[in-house]
Amino acid sequence: MSGPRILAIESSCDETGVAVVVGGRRIETNQVATQVALHAETGGIVPEVAARQQLRWIVPTLDAALADADARWEDLDAVAVTYGPGLIGSLLVGVNVAKALAVAHDLPLVGVNHIEGHIYANWLTDVAAGDPMPSEPEFPLLCLVVSGGHTQLVLMEDHGRYTLLGQTVDDAAGEAFDKVGRLLGLPYPGGPAISAAAAGATPATRFPRARTAGPYDFSFSGLKTAVLREVEGYRARGEAIPVDGIAAAFEEAVVDALVTKTVAAAQDHGVASVALGGGVAANRALRSTLDERLRADGLSLRVPPPAWCTDNGAMIGAAAGFRFAAGDRADAALEAIPNLALAWIDR
Ligand code: KG4
Ligand code: ZN
Repeated sequence: MSGPRILAIESSCDETGVAVVVGGRRIETNQVATQVALHAETGGIVPEVAARQQLRWIVPTLDAALADADARWEDLDAVAVTYGPGLIGSLLVGVNVAKALAVAHDLPLVGVNHIEGHIYANWLTDVAAGDPMPSEPEFPLLCLVVSGGHTQLVLMEDHGRYTLLGQTVDDAAGEAFDKVGRLLGLPYPGGPAISAAAAGATPATRFPRARTAGPYDFSFSGLKTAVLREVEGYRARGEAIPVDGIAAAFEEAVVDALVTKTVAAAQDHGVASVALGGGVAANRALRSTLDERLRADGLSLRVPPPAWCTDNGAMIGAAAGFRFAAGDRADAALEAIPNLALAWIDR
């Protein structure tokens, strides 16, 4: 497949990702150094620790990517990087490395929004060069981005055309998984641990569903408090905490909220398809329940494989491919923006 061959860097949180992606779709390499084991010791991310680890891993990960793709600098068309949203210390590492590489190798620089990257993971493929490409998501596309830092419903009318329909008013879905995981004494990160505990378990209770002002908004902090009360109840009575059953009830409540709002937004906006993105999209219960409910409405769900749902460089390379094609270029003035909003591409 033709199209720009882009070196993409992701360093917004606790994963250091470097990838080479062709034409915004085909992965040539996707190297990820994760800090999960390190943060498991503290039960969560310490931003300063995350930034230091980005600094430590960025060059080895870059070297691994260039070696794995067998890429020479003269064969690359651009350098892309996540410039927000994310942790400032972590973002600064990737942004500065990307700027330096673009200047040193005289390559154009493309800045990518991290959320946009999670959405564009749905365009990625690892088919071999020259093989038929899988179909692309159809517009208008409804995207549910659920990660450790974000929970957003985004309507995408075309490449680079985004409307934010709703988002969490407090905790992100992944953040809720991580906090509840800690409450239940499960290892960090809570998402995969809760989902493993919940698999096959009968919900121990039914947690209340949150009401939000906006029709497509989410709220998870009340649910987290409800889990805490439940756990405290067992403790006060001197009873063993049914961890699996509580995990199942919590997962059911989160999945119910995400699925209900997503299906409603899909119906209200008459979309052609629905796509999932972000670390929580790796959750099996969410994937299967959403798929089932959308199918009943004649809609299909797109979900990237789990490795492309959690933070990685390839998703940034995918988004950058379409930005590059649209003529979007950053320059040495590109800054890291911790609260960067998803914006339309100017054309
Ligand atoms: O997208 P991501 O790698 O980083 C951010 O941009 O935040 O998402 C990480 C989040 C964590 O909160 C983690 O607990 C959650 O994704 N996660 C899951 C699962 N795998 C990862 N949550 C629920 N179920 C999973 N299987
Ligand atoms: Zn992410």
